[in-house]
Formats: sequence, structure tokens, C-alpha cells
Amino acid sequence: MAGVGMALPARAVSNEELAARVDTSDEWIVQRTGIRQRYVAGEGETTVSLGTAAARAAMAQAGWTAADVDLIVVATSTPDHTFPSSATEIQAALGVTRGVAFDLQAVCSGFVFALSTAEKFLVSGANARALVIGAETFSRILDWTDRTTCVLFGDGAGAMAIEARREGGAKPRGVLTAHLRSDGRHRDKLYVDGGPSTTGTVGHLKMAGREVFKHAVGMVTDVVVDAFAATGESADTLDWFVPHQANERIIDASAEKLGIAAGKVVKTVALHGNTSAASIPLALATAVADGRIKRGDLVMVEAMGGGFTWGSALIRW
Ligand code: UT7
Repeated sequence: MAGVGMALPARAVSNEELAARVDTSDEWIVQRTGIRQRYVAGEGETTVSLGTAAARAAMAQAGWTAADVDLIVVATSTPDHTFPSSATEIQAALGVTRGVAFDLQAVCSGFVFALSTAEKFLVSGANARALVIGAETFSRILDWTDRTTCVLFGDGAGAMAIEARREGGAKPRGVLTAHLRSDGRHRDKLYVDGGPSTTGTVGHLKMAGREVFKHAVGMVTDVVVDAFAATGESADTLDWFVPHQANERIIDASAEKLGIAAGKVVKTVALHGNTSAASIPLALATAVADGRIKRGDLVMVEAMGGGFTWGSALIRW
């Protein structure tokens, strides 16, 4: 783990501001989700611009220049263009001219899928230094008249710089284990009703929130238990639990079911809303910047999202 970085749009939108546009209230949003505000991209702010800014911050923390990077994996469901990938656009913006860059799409689980993928490239010896980026502008696929979805999501990006290095010692650092799952039978509970090959439009996000909620806690706790079983670690040995930030009630219920103490849970959902693939790296960057996550700490990340997709990764920081 060489560095992390984050980027948010300039404008924060409060619950009160949304209550002036749709039939909702600050009280309902806070009680049901824990969200108090979200950032919304303005003109000129895009998935690629936010992802590039987050990547630059992670590279600065790692002490890397563009010449050091040979792998870029971007998790996003809201690319700037249908093609080329946001990853190659970010690659060009960073001035990286070697290696490979590609997008990966697993909606809210995207960052866990991207981290696990990049780690396998590094372990195989194919690449040496990777940027793993979660970047989203969900504000651009929301139906701003649908109160059941528009209050939940926000924009932003987070990036992690990871490096292949053989480490000795009893507690080697890096991704210790990752567990990824998907089940396409749940498609209709969370999807976008457009796309290049169907409507020829971008479409809008549709979610059966209560249905997603019902599955979320069980799915994420399963893959966290798998990660504990694979490594012999446990809720007691864990230093930080950094879940996908969709809903504070899902986060609290998952932590409670897993026996993870409340003080170990990193929560940024109040400030950022649900930023899909960006939510975990935004939370990681926040907790590194404020001094909570330190070198050597044991950190569990997990997410669940459209598809359904879900997964966990256990990291020695
Ligand atoms: O990141 C990918 C994974 N996504 C998630 O994890 C999201 C999972 N789902 C959730 O977080 C929650 O289900 C929601 C926050 C989306 C909804 O909370 P809920 O407690 O499941 O509420 P509900 O959908 O059961 O709705 C309760 C009531 C309904 O009214 P009735 O039918 O009881 O009269 C809704 O129409 O709240 C109403 N409602 C609202 N009221 C005020 C729905 N949205 C709003 C709103 N403001 N924005």
C-alpha cells in the first residue's frame, strides 16, 4: 500500500436543498440512510477529471511520477464516454505512457473487484506499480424527480497506489485475501434503464431499495466471514472495517452481525452519500489522512451492489 488519494466535486448539496426539489425531508434522509450531504459534479467535473485528481493525490503520497505507473484499473459505472475507457483517458491525463489501463464495471462493488484484479496482476509479476481508482458521477444517471433514488447518491473519486514488493516478516503487507461474488438473477432490483446496445441512451438508475437492503447485510457478512476464514484473522484482530458507504443502517447492522466494535468502523456516508465504486477509496483516503489507518493495520473492505455483485478484501496496510 504505497498511497491513497481522493477528489470531490466543488459543490456539496444538503438534504434541505433536495427537499426543496422533491417530496422528502432532512429528517427522513438522515433517519433512513445517515446521509447529510453529497457532492454533485458541476460543469467540467467528470469521472475522468475526478479520477485523475484522486490518482495524482495517491501518486504524490506514494512519491511516484508518471514513469513509475504500469497498470491503471478504474472501477466505474459512469464513464465519461461509452469508449474509450475512463482508464485510458486518465492514463493520458496523468502522462503515463507505458503498461496497461482498463475499466472494470461491478457497480458499487467495483473498487473491491478492481483492487483484487490489480493485486493479481502484481502478484503474477506482469506489472509492478498500479493505480486502483474508483470514480463516479452518479448524479448524471439519476432521475432527479425520483425521491427514492436521487437523495441517496453522490459523486467523487478515490485512488490507491499499490506496488509489488516481496516482504519478509511475520506480517507481510498488502492484500491478504479477496473474495468476489455475483448473481445475475438479482438484476431487476438495481439497474440502469438505458445503454448503448438497447436504448442508445445513458438511462436512469432504478432501485428497489427495500429489496436491495434485505440482501445486503447477509451478502457482505458472508464474504467478510470468508476472508476471516481464509486468513485466520477475526473481528478481534481487525483494526479497521471500511465498508461500502450506501446506508448507515446497513453498515451498522453488518458490523454488529460480524462482532466488529463500533469504534473500528470507518463511516463517511454522512458526508459523501453513496458514491458507488468511489465510496471505499474515499473512506480509506479519509481515514489515512486523519491518522486512523496506519502502516501495519489490518483493514477489511467490503461492498455490495448492482448485478448483484459483492466482495471483500482483507488488507495489511
Ligand atoms: O449501493 C448499492 C446498494 N444499495 C443499497 O444498499 C441501498 C439499499 N436500500 C436502502 O438503503 C433503503 O432501502 C432505502 C434508504 C433506499 C430506503 O429505506 P427503507 O427504510 O427501505 O424505506 P422504504 O423504501 O421501505 O420506504 C419507506 C417509505 C415509503 O413510503 P410508504 O410506502 O411507507 O408510504 C417510501 O415511499 O418512505 C418513502 N420514501 C421517502 N420518503 C421521504 C422513499 N423515499 C423517500 C424520500 N423521502 N426520499
